[in-house]
Amino acid sequence: MDIAILRTAAADASQPQYTKLEYAALLRGARAVTYACLSDHPQAAETTFRDLPQRPLSAVVQMPNVDLLAVPTPASPELREFLMRSGWPARRLAFFGDDRSGALAQFAQGRYLVHRESALRESGLHQQRHAFEVQGVGIEDIPPAHPREARLAITSRVLEACLRARATAPAEGPYVVGQNWGRFLQATRPRFYEALSSADVEAMEALLANCFRNELTSGILGGRPAYDAFAAAGAGCAEGLRQHFNVWRHSVSHVDVHRLGFPPVGNPYGVWLDCVLVHANTMLNDHRASVVRDLVGHVDHPIVAEIGGGYGGFGRQWLMLDAPGTYVDFDLPENLIVASHFLASAHPDKRILLFDEPSMRLDLEVLRQYDLVLMPHFMLPRLAEASVDVFMNFISLSEMSASTIHEYLAQIERVTRGYFYQENLLDNGEGYEFYPVSVFPPMPQFRKLFSTPSRWPFFSASSPAHSHVEQLSIRADLEVERYLTAAANSLPSRSAEETFA
Ligand SMILES: C[S@@+](CC[C@H](N)C(=O)[O-])C[C@H]1O[C@@H](n2cnc3c(N)ncnc32)[C@H](O)[C@@H]1O
Repeated sequence: MDIAILRTAAADASQPQYTKLEYAALLRGARAVTYACLSDHPQAAETTFRDLPQRPLSAVVQMPNVDLLAVPTPASPELREFLMRSGWPARRLAFFGDDRSGALAQFAQGRYLVHRESALRESGLHQQRHAFEVQGVGIEDIPPAHPREARLAITSRVLEACLRARATAPAEGPYVVGQNWGRFLQATRPRFYEALSSADVEAMEALLANCFRNELTSGILGGRPAYDAFAAAGAGCAEGLRQHFNVWRHSVSHVDVHRLGFPPVGNPYGVWLDCVLVHANTMLNDHRASVVRDLVGHVDHPIVAEIGGGYGGFGRQWLMLDAPGTYVDFDLPENLIVASHFLASAHPDKRILLFDEPSMRLDLEVLRQYDLVLMPHFMLPRLAEASVDVFMNFISLSEMSASTIHEYLAQIERVTRGYFYQENLLDNGEGYEFYPVSVFPPMPQFRKLFSTPSRWPFFSASSPAHSHVEQLSIRADLEVERYLTAAANSLPSRSAEETFA
């Protein structure tokens, strides 16, 4: 919804009314596109106001894209009469100054996600608006990007790596799949295990080609039940996306929804936003990737590693940010195959190392030859000491067994020379009974930089479902020269002038 705001002498005397109206509108998806000025206003000749075009009311009436004229301050009977005579039908008038809740309900029919960027100039505070159009729920089938032969070739490659990993996985010790995930996978993925046991490439390809809507993403994006719930929620999904957008836009260094679009792999679903298909979960991964990029995007060939990367959401956003270096993911073979297929299909130009055999070298010389290194979890001890700039774990360690958590944190201490960034359980929510971070073993080599409840509604401290913590720790003996000196300042950060250019 595009709105015009009426500029009146009364509202000029109370600037906050404009601020309140603009902000209330943008939060609900209505985009302010112009100010409309009455001809007897002392500043009627101005062509801009509050960084928006200012036009005579008579011109705004002619603008086909303006859905609503909003009046900031109480309107006298004379003004109402005048507006009607000017050609505005009553249903396209929003009397914010007289009936705030009525106006808010009108704004709520808006079709944009709006972000503002501010700059302080000599003339005062200026704001530029970026509006992204919500074009509807995207649940229609998304045809795959590659022809069938290419898809079979990718599936064959990732299936072979998965079969090799399962054949060599340890049968005892901390690398045995924990009870939670072991039982869960067996219970939710019957067709997957069937295709795996017969090494059936065609059957596996069919599953991977639809992975976002079937059992292959159980536990990592909710699988079929999450898709069904999304499809049933209809327009409510767009509202959920708006809540996430309002967190995401204030959490990342550069707000552009276009990098959030799902690639045509695995039959994804979401909300169409400015012609790209966006799922709220992508905003979480994009925020994480932005944080990591801010931490080490400037260092020479950073190695960023994750345990439990799920379907590959972090890896995808890392690549969409054009981040340098190598991304390494360690995960259970059952989920690693999904991530490997997703990332290899979406980024066929990237150099990807998959599992071959347990004695593979994972030292800096090898890692640096690849953009992505996707390994089964039990390869973690093969990672060279002090090779990783940022180690990450999101919504994952808390779900493992105590001995595995112990082993993984010890390994993270051994291999990480920069930062440890995690989101794990803060407190058990209803029906979620795993290990909170407060019982994780200490990491004597690290110092906590910050620890805060999750910013995302579903995972926040007030969520009844799961409460997570966002935590960043830094190596006590961190190489200051590598991470924090002049080079760090050379990270491309946008000035206000660039922002408004
Ligand atoms: C809830 S998913 C989270 C996925 C992703 N990090 C996210 O935040 O969306 C948990 C992840 O932990 C992985 N995981 C569970 N047990 C594991 C283990 N013993 N070793 C490595 N990864 C494990 C799962 O395979 C899955 O990818």
